[in-house]
Amino acid sequence: MVGNWKLHNTVGEAIALVERLKAVIGDPRGREVAVAPPFTALYAVRGALCGTPIALAGQDCHSEERGAFTGAIAPSMLRDVGCRYVILGHSERRGLFGETDATVNRKVRAALAAGLGAILCVGERAGEPAREVIPRQLEAGLAGIAGLDGVVIAYEPVWAIGSGTPASPEDAVTVAGLVRERLAAGWGEAAARATRVLYGGSVNAANAGHFLGREAIDGALVGGASLDAVAFAGIVEAAPPFGH
Ligand code: PGA
Repeated sequence: MVGNWKLHNTVGEAIALVERLKAVIGDPRGREVAVAPPFTALYAVRGALCGTPIALAGQDCHSEERGAFTGAIAPSMLRDVGCRYVILGHSERRGLFGETDATVNRKVRAALAAGLGAILCVGERAGEPAREVIPRQLEAGLAGIAGLDGVVIAYEPVWAIGSGTPASPEDAVTVAGLVRERLAAGWGEAAARATRVLYGGSVNAANAGHFLGREAIDGALVGGASLDAVAFAGIVEAAPPFGH
């Protein structure tokens, strides 16, 4: 379960949220939990998470390790500050910041090369056929990648993000199946099975169990509800622990 804080929380607010989260989440008992604060809070949040099983994630990174890229953050900088993962190709990056599939692919390759887990977001816009969009985004986003180690796929229909209207669990399961089909075609059945597929888009504590109880769905990428410690802890609780 990944909490994507987006453009929320100063350093002080981020620490306060992590402290609340630590108090309510307790031992995640075999579930993997990560939070993705804004860049400016990463270092402080890493300190606050020290000794807990909660991992740190970046919300984005650049595809280059160094150079004249004002405003950019390199994958190895995220590693340096303690990130295990980075979210890439989120629909807000694609839609609001003009990221193309090619940009996202360069970022995924750079993140993996730096030793980060790459959470690649894919999802159709309202009215678009998922059956066409998802395989295309996966193919482009993962082009040139030798293996799927470190790759996590987040299926987030764009219309479901922040709207209060999630996909139906049945549709999410269908698309997770499409994702695994595409992964199997490129990297083999075993690699496709071993790759985690998350659902994201208006997940909250009340509906999380409908997604997380499905075998095809390994986790959730959570925006709004991850800003509330009790709600996020409820989502984590809704996930069956590993091995169940
Ligand atoms: P939401 O956002 O949970 O607020 O819909 C999900 C996301 O953007 O990852």
